[in-house]
Amino acid sequence: MENRKLRAGMIGGGIGAFIGPVHRMALELDHSAEIVAGAFSRDSKKTEASGARLYLDPQRVYHDYRAMAEREAALPEDRRLDFVVIVTPNSTHFEIASTFLQHGFHVVCDKPVALTLEEAKSLQSIASENSRLFMITHAYTGYPMVKQARQMVRNGELGDILKVVVDYLQGWVPFRLQGAGKGEKGWKFDPKVSGKSLTIADIGIHAENLVHYITALEIEELCADTTSFLAGHGLEDDGSVLIRFRGGSKGVLSASQTLAGEHNGLVIRIYGTKKGLIWKQEQPEELLVRDLNRIDTVLHKGGPDLYEEANAAKRLPSGHPDGLIVAFANLYRAFYQSIRRQQGGEEPSGGIPSGDFPNIADGVRGMAFVETVLQSAASEKKWIKMKA
Ligand SMILES: NC(=O)c1ccc[n+]([C@@H]2O[C@H](COP(=O)([O-])OP(=O)(O)OC[C@H]3O[C@@H](n4cnc5c(N)ncnc54)[C@H](O)[C@@H]3O)[C@@H](O)[C@H]2O)c1
Repeated sequence: MENRKLRAGMIGGGIGAFIGPVHRMALELDHSAEIVAGAFSRDSKKTEASGARLYLDPQRVYHDYRAMAEREAALPEDRRLDFVVIVTPNSTHFEIASTFLQHGFHVVCDKPVALTLEEAKSLQSIASENSRLFMITHAYTGYPMVKQARQMVRNGELGDILKVVVDYLQGWVPFRLQGAGKGEKGWKFDPKVSGKSLTIADIGIHAENLVHYITALEIEELCADTTSFLAGHGLEDDGSVLIRFRGGSKGVLSASQTLAGEHNGLVIRIYGTKKGLIWKQEQPEELLVRDLNRIDTVLHKGGPDLYEEANAAKRLPSGHPDGLIVAFANLYRAFYQSIRRQQGGEEPSGGIPSGDFPNIADGVRGMAFVETVLQSAASEKKWIKMKA
């Protein structure tokens, strides 16, 4: 394909939104793509103000994403978007993603990809029928030391995996319900917009995705207990899940958004027959390696003897923090490589071309996880097979 920046459109992410601006920084970080169009908000004034702040051509700032899909698809090839980024609340993902896939655009969508497993599977079919790429931004998989952990597992350095313990602990729900920051993210407490799950769909699926990315283990069945500790919103704000993986490894996943003092405490511990690994999202540039003699080694991003996959994911040397924007940017970089391969005719036609980024298969598995957890929590039987 011609040597040029890729052209992106964004749906959601208007002034005041949380994750849209993070995507914009990440997608432009390596100067390989830029935002040229968008429908940034349901509020027309905010959409216009957001477009102006990004110095966009007003002709390419839309009040409605359907009009955007139609008008952008009709543009000549040298102006047309290559992909769109969907950073709207959960209930809108299915409609917006299917509209843009059907108009021929590759799609990036934030998690959860849909409200139900059925919708996620339908998106998988639509992406496949249209041979469109579909990235889901489970961005923690983009950190260099997560890639190091994955390579260590792949190369057998840990031996056989015995147990994975993953916690994703936050504390913002009581804060919001007490009134501080009230109004923001009100949609997260509305099941029509958020879905049937609050915490498992919001952060439990990040934890599930991280386990799968690093270990490739597949959940066979699980047993879950969920709680709505804080009255008034009706959805679960805490969940504990016991996991049996295919092949005999065991797992424990804890997700909560009600815990005093917690910020964004995603911590994964993986123990094999030879070694253990511990990675903490709040100190993402370190990976603790433990051995059977109880000798601990701390590996640092940019340090010696790391796998190429980890080194390729950093932008700065050791001791200079890269951070979450770079982790997001690593997903985008892999996504762009796949787009360019497809545009250059190097990807097979049909199916869903992919690369080292979470894709719609992760979205389907994530929604299967959410639904199985809710089913188990509501059932007397408890141990439920997970079927995607
Ligand atoms: N990957 C991550 O780590 C991560 C982090 C935070 C949020 N998220 C996900 O990103 C999504 C957005 O979350 P947020 O916290 O940024 O929400 P937010 O409420 O801060 O922002 C949502 C934006 O979408 C706009 N919007 C809503 N409906 C729209 C429509 N039909 N057309 C155009 N714009 C529309 C709103 O006006 C707002 O600008 C959610 O699905 C959330 O789960 C992912």
